[in-house]
Amino acid sequence: MPSTRVITLANPPKGDIKPDTFKVETQDLPAVEDGQVLLKTVALGNLPAMRTWMDNEIDPKRLYAPPIKQGEVVRAPGIGEVVESKSDKLKVGQRVTAMMGWTEYKVIKPEEIMSVVNDIKGKSEFLPLTLLGVNGLTAWAGVFREMNLKPEHTLLVSGAAGSVGTCLVQLAKHVVGCKRVVGIAGGKEKCDWVKSLGADECVDYKSASFAKDLEAALPDETDFFFDNVGGEVLNEALTRVKRYGHITVCGAISGYHGKPLQLTNWREVVYNRYTLKGFILSDHAKDFPQAAKELRQWVEEGKLTVDRETVVDTKFEGIPQTWQKLFTGENQGTLVTKLV
Ligand SMILES: NC(=O)c1ccc[n+]([C@@H]2O[C@H](COP(=O)([O-])OP(=O)(O)OC[C@H]3O[C@@H](n4cnc5c(N)ncnc54)[C@H](OP(=O)(O)O)[C@@H]3O)[C@@H](O)[C@H]2O)c1
Repeated sequence: MPSTRVITLANPPKGDIKPDTFKVETQDLPAVEDGQVLLKTVALGNLPAMRTWMDNEIDPKRLYAPPIKQGEVVRAPGIGEVVESKSDKLKVGQRVTAMMGWTEYKVIKPEEIMSVVNDIKGKSEFLPLTLLGVNGLTAWAGVFREMNLKPEHTLLVSGAAGSVGTCLVQLAKHVVGCKRVVGIAGGKEKCDWVKSLGADECVDYKSASFAKDLEAALPDETDFFFDNVGGEVLNEALTRVKRYGHITVCGAISGYHGKPLQLTNWREVVYNRYTLKGFILSDHAKDFPQAAKELRQWVEEGKLTVDRETVVDTKFEGIPQTWQKLFTGENQGTLVTKLV
């Protein structure tokens, strides 16, 4: 019987990832049945949320997605290449996106295929995991559905040099034409890059002068704050939102390993009557066809720049180490695991 290497969640983490959190195992592969294909994993997407899916101690009723339980293969999006086909729609050599998980090979049913890869000439082969994947859709939903940005708006975005952040900055500036877009990112190099993508200003949250720099970047404060990171960045940003302004909570990566959130400026929410709203991408599933079409069109038109991803050549057993680069900010643009 054919088999595949997989990486399972051996010990659900409490706090930081440990050397024994994951385990490389070999599992049997089921036979490929009519309509199905056997895929070889080419590349994997890296989502910060995967860390939250590993939390096994939260009441499942409070989660938005099923947890990855002890012993299960780690769930992750990826690009797979067809190596055996019993489908009349897919030929050997074609590539698709699916929840591949941390596995070398996977037998996939037709309904599990998210998209058939259709490369854009001259653009990265990894676009289906970057701006045309989950994170591009998240930025689209944030701009056009959650915030409903207009040209007269100012926007502050944290995690601005990351996957969702870079797409969001570009949509706000180059598609909507927002009056002022300010990013927050870690380090001068990342901030310079965010500005080159269209942001009017980008503030380094690792600098000792962060609070002063943020104030200088937003002399009239901001209508919207789109938060990807939480923690101290959120705490500081709470002081820079206009009265009756809006905070869209997309993520809180700074707390995904369990670091307590200390919001000493929380009173600002009351004093300045903010509207805070969390969202989950799947709430917008009905809009995915429109979002995918528009994002692709804007990439083709050059409104969205996709010339920078962090593609890490990775041996199978190194998949967890590459994923963890998200939490130490080693990625600029989307972090992609390319299996070698
Ligand atoms: N709500 C939804 O449906 C949805 C969907 C997709 C993604 N998300 C969320 O969106 C956020 C961004 O995801 P992504 O895939 O685009 O990741 P990403 O921004 O490409 O990568 C993570 C970045 O977070 C920053 N970071 C890491 N630790 C930090 C800390 N302690 N404080 C501040 N910044 C920190 C790092 O950048 P620096 O070098 O700048 O620190 C790192 O590069 C995540 O919170 C994710 O969970 C939510």
